[in-house]
Amino acid sequence: MTKPADSYRPSTTTQAGAPIASDAHSLTVGADGPTVLHDHYLVEKIAAFNRERVPERNPHAKGGGAFGEFVVTEDVSAYTQAAVFQKGAKSEALIRFSSVAGEQGSPDTWRDVRGFSLRLYSEEGNLDIVGNNTPTFFLRDAIKFPDFIHSQKRLGDSGLRDPDMQWDFWTLSPETAHQVTYLMGDRGLPRSWRHMNGYGSHTFSWVNEAGELFWMRYHFVSNQGVEAMGADEAQQLAGSDADHYRRDLFEAIARGDHPSWDLYVQIMPYDEAKTYRFNPFDLTKTISLKDYPRIKVGTLTLNRNPENFFTQIEQAGFSPGNQVRGTGISPDKMLMGRIFAYPDAQRHRIGANYNQLPVNQPHAAEARNYQHEGAMRYQHNDAAHRTYQPNSFGPAGGPEADPSKGIEANWEADGELVRSAATLHAEDDDFGQAGTLYREVFDGEQRARFLETLTGQGRSITIDDIRERFFQYWTNVDAELGAALRDRV
Ligand code: HEM
Repeated sequence: MTKPADSYRPSTTTQAGAPIASDAHSLTVGADGPTVLHDHYLVEKIAAFNRERVPERNPHAKGGGAFGEFVVTEDVSAYTQAAVFQKGAKSEALIRFSSVAGEQGSPDTWRDVRGFSLRLYSEEGNLDIVGNNTPTFFLRDAIKFPDFIHSQKRLGDSGLRDPDMQWDFWTLSPETAHQVTYLMGDRGLPRSWRHMNGYGSHTFSWVNEAGELFWMRYHFVSNQGVEAMGADEAQQLAGSDADHYRRDLFEAIARGDHPSWDLYVQIMPYDEAKTYRFNPFDLTKTISLKDYPRIKVGTLTLNRNPENFFTQIEQAGFSPGNQVRGTGISPDKMLMGRIFAYPDAQRHRIGANYNQLPVNQPHAAEARNYQHEGAMRYQHNDAAHRTYQPNSFGPAGGPEADPSKGIEANWEADGELVRSAATLHAEDDDFGQAGTLYREVFDGEQRARFLETLTGQGRSITIDDIRERFFQYWTNVDAELGAALRDRV
């Protein structure tokens, strides 16, 4: 195609490619007469407009993202055989940061946990690490997740967010205490998405070349430093610049100030999970860095803004189920629930064939299987391939599963079917780690800000019974904290 001269602009066309005469005037009977239905382009234009919105993500609706690269700088082959984690490997990366509770237009600086969703387009398929800026979570069983999110969203009648409902749920669900301590502390208001760490949060698994399985956790440590924003500034920005974090990331990358994170992992030998002092598959708990220190893997750098927010960020469908050879999940009940939840949400939110969209396809590998057809399908298998497996046509018949490549993380499980959570680990309780976080990890200034935030939260509760449980909840975390709150609220 020849390059158009500066003055040349190609004609607007219909979706079928036919040039159209006007983008300003509909076809009418006389200049002031009625519009005619056979103005095909007018109808097409308005119909397309009417269908622009797809449902927003149920949690994590507001966000932003970018592309970059992940480079492995250390040798961790003793723990995983995944090509994406071999020393020297470089992979294209996609990240999406988000808030949890607010809708698409909600202010970035409302206090919340922040999502940290990473996709590595590896030669062995897409690996997604869909975590948060906290190493823990509110719950330990997927069955409570819809109720939790409902309590953070809006009331059925007024459509308002409601501190009573949030604190009602939290105080009736003591396993939330550790994560709520993070949320009401500095991590609930990061200075920007660049100034926060990212965590896979759950325990995952890695498998090395010899087939040995390790339990592991992902920690992405910000090279910009971890910084918080003051509550007053956050409140002011919520009014004056609702897209503050999205703007900050986009502008930083545009000016060449490329944010980066070093990836570290905690590695726990398979057998140690059984006797570790905390249940490592309960993500309301951290795994102590003293017990399992961080081991460096490599560096993630964001260096490319999206060209189109909708097709590259809004339609991105991350899933904790996207694992590769040498990485896998664990017996964490939340994680198992998530394996189902994400692709299901994306089939509803984006469409049955969302995996074929350019941002969701594997970029360095190829998707090959016998799934076909369905709404909006445009990729198709080689015409010579069969549409079923097994088939007797050899290589011409299409791909075949290969047990030597599809290595899966594996563990033993046995027992009766029950609905309960066993506490077999010495220090499993709901409040212990929250208390340690408050007393030993927060410094004096952080504790002072935390108390201030909780005082405001306590005052916003309007139901006596819930306020009483609020005092008890924080007394369980730390007796002095509980007493101080009772005094101040
Ligand atoms: C988004 C469900 C727990 C982090 C989502 C979405 C769903 C969902 C349905 C929207 C997906 C989409 O429309 O593309 C669940 C369920 C959970 C759970 C059922 C518990 C069983 C968690 C946990 C974390 C987390 C524990 C972090 C450790 C995220 C993030 C996103 C997200 C970061 C945004 C993904 C993106 O950027 O596109 N979740 N979630 N979720 N969730 Fe969860």
